[in-house]
Amino acid sequence: MSDHQFLNYIGGEWVEGSGTDPIPDINPADTREVIGHATDSQAQDVDAAVAAAKEAFEDWRSMTPPSRGKIVQAAGRLYEQRAAEIGEVLTREEGKILAEAKGEVQKGANLVDFLSGEARRLNGETVPSEIPNTFAYTVRCPLGVVGLITPWNFPMAIPAWKIAPALVAGNTVVLKGAEQTPWTTQLVVQAFIDAGVPPGVLNIVQGRGATAGAALVDHPDVAAISFTGSTEIGRHIWARGASLGKPVQCELGGKNPIIVLDDADVALAVAATAKGAFGSTGQRCTATSRAIVDRRVHDQFVEELAKAAAQVIPGNGLDPRTTMGPSVDKEQFGKVQEYLEIGAAEGVEVICGGRRATDGALEYGLFTEPTLYTGVTRDMRVAREEIFGPVLSVLEVDGIEEALDVANDVEFGLTSSVYTADVNRVFRYIDKIETGMLHVNSPTIGGEAQLPFGGMKKTGVGPREMGKTAIEFYTEWKTVYIDYSGGFRGGNLY
Ligand code: NAI
Ligand code: MG
Repeated sequence: MSDHQFLNYIGGEWVEGSGTDPIPDINPADTREVIGHATDSQAQDVDAAVAAAKEAFEDWRSMTPPSRGKIVQAAGRLYEQRAAEIGEVLTREEGKILAEAKGEVQKGANLVDFLSGEARRLNGETVPSEIPNTFAYTVRCPLGVVGLITPWNFPMAIPAWKIAPALVAGNTVVLKGAEQTPWTTQLVVQAFIDAGVPPGVLNIVQGRGATAGAALVDHPDVAAISFTGSTEIGRHIWARGASLGKPVQCELGGKNPIIVLDDADVALAVAATAKGAFGSTGQRCTATSRAIVDRRVHDQFVEELAKAAAQVIPGNGLDPRTTMGPSVDKEQFGKVQEYLEIGAAEGVEVICGGRRATDGALEYGLFTEPTLYTGVTRDMRVAREEIFGPVLSVLEVDGIEEALDVANDVEFGLTSSVYTADVNRVFRYIDKIETGMLHVNSPTIGGEAQLPFGGMKKTGVGPREMGKTAIEFYTEWKTVYIDYSGGFRGGNLY
């Protein structure tokens, strides 16, 4: 078995970190397989990466935005060409099934493609001045060196959707990818290198959050941090950024509901719920984790969903028969198992699952049976906290008002969906729901490159990622006043 080494990329060179404790990259579908090791970076490695990014900044920002956009666009094309290779690596180290992994690479390609086009649209505004002979306008400018800290659940798409707008806007980047997915991180950056990003413009530090990640947040030459991950770490980084006077963008947790009303197409709602709850093993920030179902269709919904759950085939994502992969690592798996105990202790009714899956080869992986709970009430922890596993809680309600009330009764507000055929209810839902993205008669998951992505309430802070809004976090505005009176009538010195 080959032991791949995943190194840092600093100033155009692949280099080892200075720490002594490399991080094992383990296949979660079979934890006996150690794919390789990521180098262990310390504060001094982060210093070197930030210094390289700082040095590269002046030339990169001086390049015209369309020229930067061309390089970024070329990286997107390479993703498309390399979808099979990147997808396979992603499946091996993260666990999601190959179809999902390749879909993620395609999504990354779409994002990079869309965002590269923003290079030709880095527009400001011309604004009329109240002072005679004065031209007033706004222009965007980059921030400098930006730090990107990313999670394992979309190890290709999330770095891509942060790197592309950062570079297009003229920033240079230091990326700290997730410990669990160092190979994918490497491939994400390799495409940008091959596309012609100059040395120092895009750097990786592989390493742990508490060392490499924290050093990046704290570094005085890092102008801003964009983070996706847990609520706990996100709030910590946000607070740290505030104390250092540094802008922070965070995309954190979700507890996304699907609302199924009494006039819903129940079969469609069931299919959407199964996809949202068990797809990617529930390890999406947009995963469906609550079904809020009208009592008139509750029993039918639960019965059909149990059938759909029984069809799920857990296993190694490289096997084309598999429809659901494992939890990403022992820690995440342990968290899911802990919630199964919490659910049992809270007195939920377990319709299916509720256990580790260990049949045959599953024994060597971190698999949980797709789990369906009924009898869940809104005060229970399984109805309020992000589990990030294939666990769905069904809450029974009476009508749309109670459904909306329950849906909004959590601290998160990322995404949601409603199933109904009634246009009045559709608009009532759109008006009242407290989520940043919402779906009518489609699953809670997914998001297209050209549309903003992000949540309300405690789900995050900072401008939306993806879409045209992605550029916001990575630019500052300059407001310019030009007096062109040239002494005519004594100038405008009043
Ligand atoms: P995490 O927040 O610990 O890790 C995310 C990234 O932050 C990683 O690159 C990590 O190395 C880095 N990091 C960790 N501590 C840091 C620190 N002190 N300073 C700077 N960087 C640091 O998330 P984790 O532990 O992987 O997952 C825990 C839970 O978070 C999951 O069970 C899930 O509920 C949630 N999560 C949500 C995600 C989302 O898409 N919104 C993505 C991943 C996790
Ligand atoms: Mg963590």
